Amino acid sequence: MSGMQRVCILGATGSIGRSTLEVVALHPTRFEVFALTARHRMDELAVLCDRWQPRYVAVGTPEQAQSLRRRLAQTRARAEVMHGARALEELASHPEVDSVMAAIVGAAGLAPCLAAARAGKRLLLANKEALVVGGDLFMRTVRQGGATLLPIDSEHSAIFQCLPSDHTAWSRHIDHILLTSSGGPFRAREPETLHDVTPEMACAHPNFVMGRKISVDSATMMNKALEVIEARWLFDLRPEQMRVLIHPQQIIHSMVVCRDNSVLAQLGTPDMKVPIAYGLSWPERIESGAERLEFATLGGLHFEDPNPRRFPGLLLAFDALRAAAGATNALNAANEEAVAAFLSGAIAFTAIHQVNAATLDSLAGAFGSQDTLEDLLALDERARAAARVHVKAMAR
Ligand SMILES: NC(=O)c1ccc[n+]([C@@H]2O[C@H](COP(=O)([O-])OP(=O)(O)OC[C@H]3O[C@@H](n4cnc5c(N)ncnc54)[C@H](OP(=O)(O)O)[C@@H]3O)[C@@H](O)[C@H]2O)c1
Repeated sequence: MSGMQRVCILGATGSIGRSTLEVVALHPTRFEVFALTARHRMDELAVLCDRWQPRYVAVGTPEQAQSLRRRLAQTRARAEVMHGARALEELASHPEVDSVMAAIVGAAGLAPCLAAARAGKRLLLANKEALVVGGDLFMRTVRQGGATLLPIDSEHSAIFQCLPSDHTAWSRHIDHILLTSSGGPFRAREPETLHDVTPEMACAHPNFVMGRKISVDSATMMNKALEVIEARWLFDLRPEQMRVLIHPQQIIHSMVVCRDNSVLAQLGTPDMKVPIAYGLSWPERIESGAERLEFATLGGLHFEDPNPRRFPGLLLAFDALRAAAGATNALNAANEEAVAAFLSGAIAFTAIHQVNAATLDSLAGAFGSQDTLEDLLALDERARAAARVHVKAMAR
């Protein structure tokens, strides 16, 4: 892509949003921040608007929009303030936007991702839940809209970097993929002792500072479960072509095992700025600001299979992939409710998996049609309602 790239960052106040701005800051003649969005953190958003001078900014409610306008009046920022779900879609598909960083957390990111895909944008996808909720519709929309989909999850970026640029060659190339995982903060903890862990313990990721939802997902390995589903859609893989491998150092970001048993891997220090810079610059490479890997000081690299008793959510993801369309959507909705309940202290850590499994059971495979955004959102709501019933039953 030549010339100045106008970037819209959905979820600018989050961990990925802020890392994106750090990469953008290294390349002032290459990227222009056109639009920023956030949901709750108005003070942080006002500071970002002052620093980046976006043309548009979007928040959740009219009240937040008013409060942001008051804050912006004290700064140099002249952004037009918008609000509501529709505003996210408008900005993601704005004719003057070239690239959209999809860094909202959860199913809430699906509609603006679809809008960007429909409008043929360069779409940098951090929001894995969009593919977990609506993979089939999402990939169809990307194809029909002529969008360029670039994975930002470090594992999927690694696989993308290992594969030939010709997508049609991928199925001939891949035997299976190995998605690596740090194993999170409880990798070595006895499964019987997980009942008592607190949100603070679950959010203490060994290698990354991330949003609280993805941090809890890393501790349960539901994050990897969602990534398996994401990989299924991004690389058009069958469940038996995807394996998960614990690699605590997070130096190898994932691997492709080719049909000839050659293994391709992408390595680097664990820093999200690398996949973000690659997404922003692909097919070129630009400075990311991440530290360089020093092999001589690395020490050993360790690998192990995940223990299904410690991380039962992984198996649930594979079951959901083999079940009727809609199962992964229901699983994601249940997990969002369960994680929120755990973070608020309502349920135990181990109950997250129980809520997820019970929600899938209680919907009994009756997911309905999954062809439109309305279908997806209706099932999302139904699964959340079922999950809330299970949360109540398991409340401590
Ligand atoms: N963090 C990582 O290292 C990492 C790595 C790979 C993939 N990802 C994926 O990237 C996505 C973002 O993760 P994160 O760690 O950056 O999350 P985060 O720190 O929690 O940030 C989420 C962002 O989305 C906004 N947001 C939250 N709910 C929203 C809603 N309902 N509507 C509109 N905006 C909303 C938040 O706004 P406020 O803060 O203003 O409320 C914030 O700007 C997730 O899908 C995650 O799985 C993250």
